[in-house]
Amino acid sequence: MSHPAHYREAHPFIFVMTHWINLIAMVALAFSGFYIHYPFFAGFMGVARGMHFFFMYVLLINLAVRIIAAFFVKSATRLGSREVDTDIKNWLPQKLNRHQLIPWIKYYIFLKKDHPIGAKYGVLQKIAYIATVPLTLAAAYTGFAIYAPVMDWAFFTAGTDAVGGPMNMRIIHYYLMWAFILFTAIHAYLANVEGFSPSRLIFAWKEEEGLQFDAEGKIVGGTEH
Ligand code: HEM
Ligand code: HEM
Repeated sequence: MSHPAHYREAHPFIFVMTHWINLIAMVALAFSGFYIHYPFFAGFMGVARGMHFFFMYVLLINLAVRIIAAFFVKSATRLGSREVDTDIKNWLPQKLNRHQLIPWIKYYIFLKKDHPIGAKYGVLQKIAYIATVPLTLAAAYTGFAIYAPVMDWAFFTAGTDAVGGPMNMRIIHYYLMWAFILFTAIHAYLANVEGFSPSRLIFAWKEEEGLQFDAEGKIVGGTEH
């Protein structure tokens, strides 16, 4: 069973944009970063480094925009309703998430066919998405710590000394790439496992067809997929 969350209020257009920009920046950084680590064809190092140094700012500015927008943009805060509230509420503990951790885990490990319906994001989904913030900041910190123009700043040398030198910092930065790749693989799988409506919404801003809402904005009918 799918949950009827694939209407525009769930992901206002600005979040469709931030998701796209984040995805493009991630692909560009992983590709150029992998090339810097392992130049698997010749003559591209200048471009790869230039690409990396450009998209690292795109990634961080986009993250800042997404976080600031959470305090100003309204989005649906529970499944099955067009009612909106400030988006940041989706990222804090919500009453609608309570007592749902165990059922969600059972669903993910195939002990249960259906998952709970409550807040816009499930318990583990919320935790995983929030975790992308410190993960991105860790990539930024380890990246700037090996970036010549700023690597001498005390803020970065403190970390570089703590991990035993810039070569170790570089290796940590490299492994963070794999953390992102792993997150993205699991995320893309789970996002599509019940059908493509969530992706149609987050990428094309297309609503699930045939949804019917009552005067208060609650879903009263429509297709499951
Ligand atoms: C704000 C974020 C980031 C900053 C400031 C940053 C910065 C850097 C810098 C300065 C280098 C060294 C390049 C050189 O000297 O030629 C580098 C290498 C690299 N970056 Fe990033 N980066 C960031 C995000 C990312 C992300 C998100 C990924 C992967 C998804 C990534 C993957 C890599 C890889 C694999 C390398 C090569 C490391 C090695 O030589 O083993 N970076 N990055
Ligand atoms: C293959 C590429 C990807 C696909 C198919 C995909 C799919 C999706 C879908 C369908 C949603 C909406 C989920 C829902 O409504 O329940 C979503 C949201 C999200 N995705 Fe992705 N995604 C991809 C890449 C990424 C990457 C690379 C990242 C970060 C590293 C990411 C982080 C997020 C976050 C943080 C959200 C919440 C969005 C918000 O509220 O602003 N995604 N994604």
